[in-house]
Amino acid sequence: MMLDLITKRLTAADADKAARALRGGGLVAFPTETVYGLGADASNAEAVARLYAAKGRPSFNPLIAHVADLDAARTIARFDAAALRLAEAFWPGPLTLVLPKQADCSVCDLATAGLDSVAIRIPSHPVAQALLRAFDGPVVAPSANRSGHVSPTTAAHVASDLDGRIDVIVDGGPVMVGVESTIVSCLGAPVLLRPGGLPREAIERVLDQALGTPTTNNSDDHAPVAPGMLASHYAPRALVRLNATEVKPGEALLAFGPELPPGAETAAAVHNLSPRGDLTEAAAHLFGALRALDDRGARGIAVMPIPFHGLGEAINDRLRRAAAPRP
Ligand code: TXA
Ligand code: MG
Repeated sequence: MMLDLITKRLTAADADKAARALRGGGLVAFPTETVYGLGADASNAEAVARLYAAKGRPSFNPLIAHVADLDAARTIARFDAAALRLAEAFWPGPLTLVLPKQADCSVCDLATAGLDSVAIRIPSHPVAQALLRAFDGPVVAPSANRSGHVSPTTAAHVASDLDGRIDVIVDGGPVMVGVESTIVSCLGAPVLLRPGGLPREAIERVLDQALGTPTTNNSDDHAPVAPGMLASHYAPRALVRLNATEVKPGEALLAFGPELPPGAETAAAVHNLSPRGDLTEAAAHLFGALRALDDRGARGIAVMPIPFHGLGEAINDRLRRAAAPRP
């Protein structure tokens, strides 16, 4: 398969070209503000099947449908008052809502894994917006990495994982947020399915209530409550050791904040997510840092403690998965 690389600013002609590839059943990687996505026409089951195969997903795990605006979202899902409030407060942006599917929803059953709910997101990235408007229909897009790998935050990450398996990569430069969207289910009282690029606190402020937690333990199964949240995920090759207060011989250091722990001077490599201790900056650098430390061939990565508030919840979630025992 020929890989077509479109770079940086998406002209109208580029957007049309990428949209044509989607219409033809092709797989198009594109930037969103959270991470790069691997897009396919949500209504085309054959294209969606190719997408699962290209990622090497072990099971048919439902996908997020990306649309350009709320009008488009309302043609595929039903919004209750809470969902509408969240949509109006945070879209376009790093929030995914799980909602009841409309009867004539164009997203194919393969993309929703046969559920009667659908996950929807309106990305704010101008390149994603241009592509979605040119395509004029829902685009399903998981993160554009091989299954189980760290999500891509640059076009180069996408190419290193998926070159030869997909049709187009739209390069929009490094993403802004750096962790995947926050997923909230609005099938009943709102539940936080996945912490992500929109902090829980912001959502709870708008709802004026605490978000629920998923009822089943979804740490290691494929049940569709919060599927895809496998315990080991986002895994670099090196072993990841959390809450490290020292660096052991042979380890690389993933640092946070101005003070480095003992052993940092002799670490195999050091990458500081945010020397000034800023969680937003740290989220933006997280996946790139894991890839960079991995590329240095470190045997282990010692990770300094990271606070749990704001984007820290999502950062700690991804690090916990990166550190979990591998299947
Ligand atoms: O930031 C993001 O959300 C990125 C960018 C590309 O938009 N996409 C992304 O997609 O992270 P993915 O496929 O890696 O994660 C989607 C998650 C999975 O955990 C999946 O199980 C869950 O959304 N999901 C999708 N549909 C669902 C549904 N109907 N009910 C519950 N969870 C659902
Ligand atoms: Mg993913």
